[in-house]
Amino acid sequence: MTTIAFSADHAGYLLKNDLVKAARALGWEVLDLGVHEGHAVDYPDMAAALAAALARGQARFGVLVCGTGIGMAIAANRHPHVRAALCHDVTTARLAREHNDANVLALGARIVGSEVARDCLRTFLTTEFAGGRHTRRVAKLSQAPLPEPQAE
Ligand code: RB5
Repeated sequence: MTTIAFSADHAGYLLKNDLVKAARALGWEVLDLGVHEGHAVDYPDMAAALAAALARGQARFGVLVCGTGIGMAIAANRHPHVRAALCHDVTTARLAREHNDANVLALGARIVGSEVARDCLRTFLTTEFAGGRHTRRVAKLSQAPLPEPQAE
């Protein structure tokens, strides 16, 4: 599947719109869940809409944008099938895919500029999960309840 879903609140929608264009230019189909203008909405609702789209198989990846990215990441990670990574640069975007198999990129429109955000998106979409030792760790994220801490 080559669809990526986008969702943003009022603080993030301008950057989201910019990233929608960037994703299309990279050859991705886009599912744009809004918002499309600057009226105030609650970021947990926008994160939930994106999580639902992923659960329905409507998109392979998601991008969430709010003012800081923090609220979106917290909200999205309440949904068990979501691994949302708050990224600030190309390195965090790359490692979110390589180590965490993140399926959602969270960005803060008040924190990163549009160039950095576009670089994060491109890196996120072109980096594969590294597997290996990370597979066991990522699998533990999906265990409910979360596993007890283990000694070495
Ligand atoms: C909205 O003002 C702001 O709180 C929201 O976009 C986000 O930054 C929350 O984490």
